[in-house]
Amino acid sequence: MSLTNPNGESTGERRFRLVVDAAPNAILMIDQAGRIVMANSQAERVFGYSRAELVGQSVEILVPERLRPHHPELRKTFWTDPQSRPMGAGRDLYAVRKDGSEFPVEIGLNPIEIEDGTMVLSAIVDISARKAAELALRESELRYRVLVDGVTDYAIYMIDPNGIITNWNRGAQRIKGYRTEEIVGQHFSCFHTEEDRAANVPQQSLEIAVRDGRYEAEAWRLRKDGSRFLANVVIDALRNDSGQLIGFAKITRDITERVQAARELEEARISLVKSQAEEALHRVQAELAHVARVATMGELTASIAHEVNQPIAATAANAQAALRWLALQPPDMEEARQALARIVHDSKRAGDIIRRIRDLMKKAPPRVDRFDINGAIREVIELSRADATKNGVSIQTQLANGLPLAKGDRIELQQVVLNLIVNAVEAMSTVAEGPRELLIVTARAGADVLVTVPDTGPGLPAADLEHIFEPFHTTKQTGLGMGLSICRSIINAHGGRLWASANLPRGAIFHFTVPAHPDSAS
Ligand SMILES: Nc1ncnc2c1ncn2[C@@H]1O[C@H](COP(=O)(O)OP(=O)(O)OP(=O)(O)O)[C@@H](O)[C@H]1O
Ligand SMILES: [Mg+2]
Repeated sequence: MSLTNPNGESTGERRFRLVVDAAPNAILMIDQAGRIVMANSQAERVFGYSRAELVGQSVEILVPERLRPHHPELRKTFWTDPQSRPMGAGRDLYAVRKDGSEFPVEIGLNPIEIEDGTMVLSAIVDISARKAAELALRESELRYRVLVDGVTDYAIYMIDPNGIITNWNRGAQRIKGYRTEEIVGQHFSCFHTEEDRAANVPQQSLEIAVRDGRYEAEAWRLRKDGSRFLANVVIDALRNDSGQLIGFAKITRDITERVQAARELEEARISLVKSQAEEALHRVQAELAHVARVATMGELTASIAHEVNQPIAATAANAQAALRWLALQPPDMEEARQALARIVHDSKRAGDIIRRIRDLMKKAPPRVDRFDINGAIREVIELSRADATKNGVSIQTQLANGLPLAKGDRIELQQVVLNLIVNAVEAMSTVAEGPRELLIVTARAGADVLVTVPDTGPGLPAADLEHIFEPFHTTKQTGLGMGLSICRSIINAHGGRLWASANLPRGAIFHFTVPAHPDSAS
């Protein structure tokens, strides 16, 4: 047969050649001995040989050298059962061009009967492009796998259309605690709580993803060990090019910490607002304390005036006496000196009283200081003694020696003592009979300094022992009922305690503590 020679061919042969030539693939006809008897123009193009170069050659010239030794045997096997089939099923096939370059191929073998006997028609497809595309796809898949698997902050996995888990990344293992081999093949509802499963949430979430393309939720999920975590869950429906559902991609994030952090932030915010409110309250209380102090001092004006008057009057008397001693012939210098010393003493005393009044009237922010509580009490008693005396009340003290210094604002604590004295004097002035005795006792009580103020007034009904500290609780016609309320807020702010109890056989006792200053020697 001579298909290569157009001049000698029959009409049938010519038709056959035209058809084969028009085929989009390289086609070779090979005889049983493995010789090329015909090649189409595609074959010329693919292999880089001219038809003349091909025809008559062993087909092995198109087989890469490294595969050549096996080829004759493979050819023989074909002839034991010649039928149409792809060549080299399951193997990668390669062909070699005239220039020696190799390329991957797919080969179809078809036995055909012609006049010269049975031949094999071999159709060869250059699959370089497809292979390259496949390789690129594999590489990109690998890159994605490495990327997805490398993510540890998110559980990323896929489920099939029935909800069966098909793969698993490292983040999923970290968050949920399952290893890949434990979980692939399971239904994804195993991450749902029992309540969610009972409510058919797993199935519904897939249905929503199918309907809307995506499902998103924040909900509790279960780890392998049964513990719960708050999860942000996204399910994306995956479809192929023809729109058919092929499964779901699921991304789960553990947001327990984030929610926790948000909660802590909120708590911090609340406590900030609270501390601002408390600060505002303290400011108002301090303001009120000052106003109340000024008011109390106002009430005491008459007795305070008397108190200041005494040393001033004494000074005047002593000055006259001194003048008299000096007018004598000879002047009595010693007596004059003593009178002048008394003047110095009295004027100093008057000055001290005025300074204390000014201190008590002064408006100053509360300060944390350390001070001798006995000294502070003595000053207050001096200011109120005239008032007490006027009401027939005697004030006694039992001030302990060697007390630690108190920690706090001296003026505010003086205000507390002053309020207690004024209340006690007012209370006792209402009783007609019996002694009117006010005692002020200081003592050490652990890390605190304790001040106790018993009186012999009418005392307090047991039911009122707490009520009297409420604002506006008063039994007096002109009282505001603020005194004890202010006292308590002052003492509380100092970290101490103020309370009342009954005295025996009658009267009330007020007690308060103030922390001792840690640096003060006992
Ligand atoms: N030593 C006391 N003996 C008996 N009752 C007292 C004594 N101290 C306070 N009370 C009672 O507690 C009430 C409240 O006292 P508080 O000092 O808070 O207000 P007030 O003295 O009535 O008015 P003010 O605001 O002018 O002080 C008094 O009205 C009085 O009934
Ligand atoms: Mg009062």
